[in-house]
Amino acid sequence: MKLLRSFLLLSIILLFSAGTAHADDVKKGKELFKDSMLGTNGKSCNTCHSGGKDIDGSKNTFKILGSELEGIEDAANFCIEMALNGKPLEKGSAKMKALASYLRTLRGKKEIESETPGY
Ligand code: HEC
Repeated sequence: MKLLRSFLLLSIILLFSAGTAHADDVKKGKELFKDSMLGTNGKSCNTCHSGGKDIDGSKNTFKILGSELEGIEDAANFCIEMALNGKPLEKGSAKMKALASYLRTLRGKKEIESETPGY
């Protein structure tokens, strides 16, 4: 019984720390998103995707300017190279993990032209 209780306690602690680690990643990722240091042309992700605009992080495949990309990491690296003139982030690196965690929280809608009032 005592063992079971310690086991339950341990599981709760582990779950809780995993949860806060994720929240930490999302926060760091959001900072990276606004950081022009990812590239070399003074732009950040937020320059074009203000507040996450146009990014739907719930998808697994992405199509950017005609290129099919598997996974959010590849999509992010595509923009880092093409839009920021930066070096792609290594997959599995702390920076990429943080950026990807943040991107997965985004549910940006593509702007729809028919939303223009009067049409
Ligand atoms: C110069 C403008 C520009 C910058 C800067 C930029 N992007 Fe993009 N990004 C685009 C365009 C254009 C698309 C394609 C949008 C479309 O198809 O509607 C795109 C698409 C994406 C997509 C796919 C979205 C989807 O839901 O299909 C992701 C993910 C993405 N960008 C991430 C990033 C990240 C991360 C950064 C910063 C490292 C970044 N972008 C910086 C222009 C930019």
